[in-house]
Order: sequence, then C-alpha cells, then structure tokens
Amino acid sequence: MANNPIELVKWSPSFSVGIKLIDEQHQTLLNLTNDMFKHCVGEEKAEREYFERVIHGAVEYVKVHFATEEKIMLKTGFSGYTEHKKEHENFVLNVVEQIQAYNSGKRLVLNSFTRFLKEWILTHIAVSDKRYFEYFRKIATRKENGTLSISHDDVAAHAVEA
Ligand SMILES: [Fe+2]
Ligand SMILES: [Fe+2]
Repeated sequence: MANNPIELVKWSPSFSVGIKLIDEQHQTLLNLTNDMFKHCVGEEKAEREYFERVIHGAVEYVKVHFATEEKIMLKTGFSGYTEHKKEHENFVLNVVEQIQAYNSGKRLVLNSFTRFLKEWILTHIAVSDKRYFEYFRKIATRKENGTLSISHDDVAAHAVEA
C-alpha cells in the first residue's frame, strides 16, 4: 500500500491570480489531484474502482473551470483567447483519449495518470493562466471585505462588441 505523499501539490501564493472564483477553482483542481494521489495504492483493481467513481466528475469540473476562463476572455476581448482555448481543448481531448484507452482495457497505473494531471495543471496555471492574471485583475472589482472578484457586471463593463 504505497501512498505517494511526495507527489502531493501544495497551494502556493505564486499560483494565485488574487481573484476569488478563479483561485478557488484552481485550488479545487489541485485538491482533486491530491485526492487521486491519495488513492494510488499500487493495486489496479482498487485504483480502477476509484478512477471510475471520480473521473467523470473531475473532467466535468475541469470543463466548468475552462469555460469560466474562456468566457471572461472572449467577452472582454483578451488577445490570448484562441491560443488559450486551444490548450484547454487539447488537454480535454488528451484526457478523454486516455480514459477511453483505460475503458477498453489498457492497464491503469493511477500514479502515472495523476502525475500527468499534476504536471499539466501546474504548468498551465504557472505559464498559460499567468498570462491573463494582470488582465483579469483589471476587470475585477474589490469587494468591501477586501477580496477581488469578477462578476457578470465586471465582465459586461469590459465587454467588447461581438
Ligand atoms: Fe485555469
Ligand atoms: Fe486556463
């Protein structure tokens, strides 16, 4: 029963855009990844049961997060939108292909799959998402309690003509 605590990802201030909704979504993605690491028991049957139980919800959550970013980018005319959306799409395609391969009998090594997820998510946040941090902060508004958040009104106020 080998757990892999070394692989666990810790939230770091360097991942933070400072906007509540996005930071919470990114934290949830890292929590999902950590939960997967905790279920890397080195026994395929148990790992498969876990994988089959959680993978659909995880993919759906990833899609919700990507849609959040893309919607803000598209509506406000962010110049990196097309490239960013492409990265999201390629990732989802890659994951869906891997899931299909496991469903059709490919050996599942949960640790390998989870390491792939971790690497992609961390690199994506640190490199690609980071490109919109400043831009999104300018759209966001400061709430009375001090948190920075992006509302529909903020997006609407910075919307470009479709
Ligand atoms: Fe993101
Ligand atoms: Fe992204």
